[in-house]
Amino acid sequence: MPTHDLVIVANRLPVDARTLPDGATEWVTSPGGLVTAMESVMRTVDSGAWVGWHGTPGQAPEPFAADGMHLYPVPLSEQEVSRYYEGFSNGTLWPLYHDVIVDPEFHRTWWDAYVRANRRFAQAAVSATAPGGTIWVHDYQLQLVPELIRSARPDVRIGFFNHIPFPPVELFSQLPKRNQVLRGLLGADLVGFQRESDAMNFVAAVRHLLGYQVDQYTVTVPGIGSEPARQVTARSFPISIDTAAVSALTEDPALQERAAELRRELGEPAKIVLGVDRLDYTKGIRHRLKAWGELLDDGSIDPHDTVMIQVATPSRERVDAYRQLRDEVELTVGRINGDHAPIGRPAVSYQHRSFDRRDMTALYMASDVCLVTALRDGMNLVAKEYVASRPDLRGVLVLSEFAGAADELRAAILVNPHDIDELKAAILQALNMPEEEQEQAMLSLRRQVLDHDVQAWARAFLAELESVGAPGGGTPAP
Ligand code: ADP
Ligand code: F6P
Repeated sequence: MPTHDLVIVANRLPVDARTLPDGATEWVTSPGGLVTAMESVMRTVDSGAWVGWHGTPGQAPEPFAADGMHLYPVPLSEQEVSRYYEGFSNGTLWPLYHDVIVDPEFHRTWWDAYVRANRRFAQAAVSATAPGGTIWVHDYQLQLVPELIRSARPDVRIGFFNHIPFPPVELFSQLPKRNQVLRGLLGADLVGFQRESDAMNFVAAVRHLLGYQVDQYTVTVPGIGSEPARQVTARSFPISIDTAAVSALTEDPALQERAAELRRELGEPAKIVLGVDRLDYTKGIRHRLKAWGELLDDGSIDPHDTVMIQVATPSRERVDAYRQLRDEVELTVGRINGDHAPIGRPAVSYQHRSFDRRDMTALYMASDVCLVTALRDGMNLVAKEYVASRPDLRGVLVLSEFAGAADELRAAILVNPHDIDELKAAILQALNMPEEEQEQAMLSLRRQVLDHDVQAWARAFLAELESVGAPGGGTPAP
């Protein structure tokens, strides 16, 4: 197996394998913000490798190259998909790390599968990495991987980035095996988070639960036996998007025409309001629909001139909470349309499928308001994509204060989505905002997104990793 200087390890590869009716394999872009961000970073890296699962249970395909990246598929059995991915990752950690919006479940068999799968990802990463190379581990599914890599390959630099929030210690403490998870993460030289508050939560958990010495964002991990103590840095690195790629799309006349065509297809409404999310209970889709339904009920919005488009990418469809959410969302959309849609035009146009980048950008360009109402979200790239898609300085972003993006996008209309009255008022404010005000806010939002793109994010993380990680065991404690 060839080895690489930079190896990304994530639960998913940037592409998912789908089996076609004739038995052939089709590769499609994987869902989620992690892939959107890392794919554009990896395209600019020479000879970078990506280790991850290819999206279906069973045997892994042979390593292959795509878009200049070297992809190393990691196999997961049916049972591992159910216990490691749907179970411990998305039935335990995901709800716990997102403020227990639904109850996390704890099962020892899920934990055992999580450990087994983490070992396999770590082993695959170790085999793919050149001597003295760098391994960058991503997200909550792989929190044990940094320590596993360190024990096998003390010669490599190890970075970890958590794309989702890290919970306050009071919530994190509920997690059985919490100390193993913290020790797993502390195998890295640098542990990165989206928000400052996530980094603070992490170091607080390390101090309270492991009793390690913490100096601001530097943790001293005691050595075992003759091993010296080492230092680990925890810091925030807010992720972003490939702003230049989005900007280039907005200049394409075919896309501008597609945006105009979308408006025509919807019957030339005066206003289009857009939501784009994975169909996930963290995204506040139910709250958004409730607010929208009430605005229609009380006559504040006229469905003859205002349309909502809700794009809801299928996600984790075998996990109970996601099935329930889908049923509720589809019932609510059906009710709203039954009560309010004019004949031949929806009040809510609901799209339960994936779109390609071009169509997604055309949707952003066509929409007067973008609603991001997450109840908790690590960052939320949709908010940044919308801003990057509006070089015309039109459009209004309504943004939940519980999304990481709210730290940076201060010129959005910031809302607490739990307060349905506040959400309704924010939607009306956005729909009625004068053009000069839209321009002013959009200018400020765009400055932020244009100046801080995903390439700058990756450079900042890797430069910090270079400065803190000394191959041969990490930075020794003074
Ligand atoms: P998360 O990582 O939780 O899914 P983000 O908002 O950070 O949330 O990232 C979502 C990414 O997925 C964005 O890049 C967005 O454009 C993309 N996306 C969301 N819905 C769809 C869809 N239906 N089709 C294609 N891409 C989508
Ligand atoms: O960062 C959010 C994230 O959870 C990624 O870790 C994940 O890959 C993506 O969204 C989509 O979720 P999934 O991989 O479970 O489909």
